[in-house]
Amino acid sequence: MDKLKKRIIEEGVVVSEEVLKLDKLLNHQVDPELMMELGREFAERFRGEGITRVVTVESSGISIAFATAYALGVPLVFARRKKTLLEEADMLQERVPSFTKGIVTDILISRDLINAQDRVLFIDDIIANGDAAKGLIKIVERSGAKLVGAGIVVEKCFQSGAQAIRDQGIRLETLAKIKSLENGQVIFAE
Ligand code: G4P
Ligand code: NA
Ligand code: NA
Repeated sequence: MDKLKKRIIEEGVVVSEEVLKLDKLLNHQVDPELMMELGREFAERFRGEGITRVVTVESSGISIAFATAYALGVPLVFARRKKTLLEEADMLQERVPSFTKGIVTDILISRDLINAQDRVLFIDDIIANGDAAKGLIKIVERSGAKLVGAGIVVEKCFQSGAQAIRDQGIRLETLAKIKSLENGQVIFAE
């Protein structure tokens, strides 16, 4: 994944000691060729696990989750975000805080789209505190499906989300591990 790290160094913008802007790579513009390559990488790592569905949360997870689902030859289901207080009976729903945005949203997946027969791979772009990831994992559990693992492009090791997921016994694969953003510099963990 040296190519990914190179792109992060060249195109990422260190905004603060905690935030790396990746608008040219993941969050605003995406390079389809790079996405397909990263999707193949996740597919290789989880091949043999009998995955039937890839899941993510809109919006920035969709491109990498699509590439992974395409490489695995399975459907992609993306959780929708809603700012609603209404419970919807046909939906599996979890409330998720977002520190960066300072708001709370609900993420929802229709009960029709994942069920107890599924073996699910969760894919996302970045993991920070992991609130969205934890919410989506709860939804997958409530659907009765088996969560086979998670693949996330960028892991910020200095925030707690990735470790919390691994502590739950969930297999988490990440492609670029960022140890620090101090002094305006991206330092990778290995
Ligand atoms: P989480 O994704 O680990 O749950 O983290 P958190 O709640 O802390 O972050 C909220 C949003 O901010 C997430 O996007 C997350 O991907 C994004 N984010 C956190 N740290 C960084 C960072 O250093 N750089 C960038 N570019 N994004 C970061 P989201 O709410 O899921 O929104 P969307 O991107 O899907 O619209
Ligand atoms: Na994001
Ligand atoms: Na995301």
